[in-house]
Parts: sequence; structure tokens; C-alpha cells
Amino acid sequence: MAFLKVVKDDITTITVDAVVNAANNSLLGGGGVDGAIHRAAGPELLAACRPLGGCETGNAVLTAAFRLPCRYVIHTVGPIWSGGSNNEAGALASCYHHCLQLADRHAVVSIAFPAISCGVYGFPIYPAAKIAVESVMDYCSQTHCSIKSVLFVCFGDEVKMAYEGALKQV
Ligand code: APR
Repeated sequence: MAFLKVVKDDITTITVDAVVNAANNSLLGGGGVDGAIHRAAGPELLAACRPLGGCETGNAVLTAAFRLPCRYVIHTVGPIWSGGSNNEAGALASCYHHCLQLADRHAVVSIAFPAISCGVYGFPIYPAAKIAVESVMDYCSQTHCSIKSVLFVCFGDEVKMAYEGALKQV
């Protein structure tokens, strides 16, 4: 079973095997954590993303990490919150599942997640944190999982509190 931890930090400074990027469907960069990761990784990251032709909401793709202090960037596209009756919860859970599946396939041992969809995409922070923690617990409790450490990297105090609360409940 993996070790789960909540930290307050800038995900571009975290030294793990893979960091997860909260991207958009185009994979061509944006603001928020997407912008921060592209700025820190350098232009090679955009060049690596361009040929991928985008990513569907709930899915994930993997690239090298270039100037970031890690091996891989796993780009995932979270749901845009539209009230909760458009399977946003299922799509968010799918993001975590696909990121972990990709990480597992690349023998990733340590992975760092931002609070996917909790910024521009407007997902309510407390339900999003619960989905994040439960999805990771579900996936990593499988026997074949290579992942030993999962970091939830929060950028603000409220998000950190939400993730710490969700972790306490499992
Ligand atoms: N490190 C860690 N977390 C960060 C960082 C950072 N450097 N910068 C922002 N965050 C946090 C935000 O505070 C928020 O809690 O990441 C969380 C996700 O917010 P967004 O980056 O806005 O991502 P999201 O809500 O999934 O929206 C994705 O925003 O940036 C665009 O291109 C992106 O269109 C996509 C959309």
C-alpha cells in the first residue's frame, strides 16, 4: 500500500518520479499549474505535447519532464464543474485512475498530484479532495501497483485543509 501525504508547495519544485499536470484538452498549456509546469519544464514540454493531438477529459498522457526535477509529466484533463449532474465526479476519479495506471506502467514509485479541477475548472474543493484520496487508495491497494509514495501538493491553505481532512476520513 502506498504512503499518501499532503504538502503545501509549488509542484514544479517537487522531486518525485512523476508530477501530474492539470491540463486542458488541447495540451498546449494554459494558466494555473499547467502554466507553472510548462514554464519550469521549458519549451521542450510544449514541443513534446504538440504531436499528441490533445487529451480527452478524464484521460491522461505521459511525457518527459525536461527541466523539471522529475522523470515524467503526466498530463490529465479534469472536468469543468457544471453543478455536479454531468458526471464530474466520475470524470475526476477517472483522471486519478488513468494517471496512476500510466505511472504504474512506467515503474513510477513516487508521484505528485495537484488539486485537479480545483482552480479554473471550479470543482468544489472538499468533494474533489475526497475523490482524489479515495481514487488513489482504491488504485494503490491493488497488488501489482508499483507506486509507493503519493504526494498531494496543495498551493493554498484551504486546499491543504481539504486534503488533510479527506486523508483523515479513510
Ligand atoms: N503547484 C501546485 N499547485 C498549483 C500550482 C503550483 N505551481 N499552481 C496552481 N496550483 C493549484 C491551484 O491553486 C488549484 O488548487 O492547482 C489547482 C488546480 O488549478 P488549475 O491550475 O486552475 O487547474 P484546473 O482547475 O484543473 O483547470 C485547468 O486551467 O490552467 C488552465 O490549462 C489549464 O485549461 C486548464 C485549466
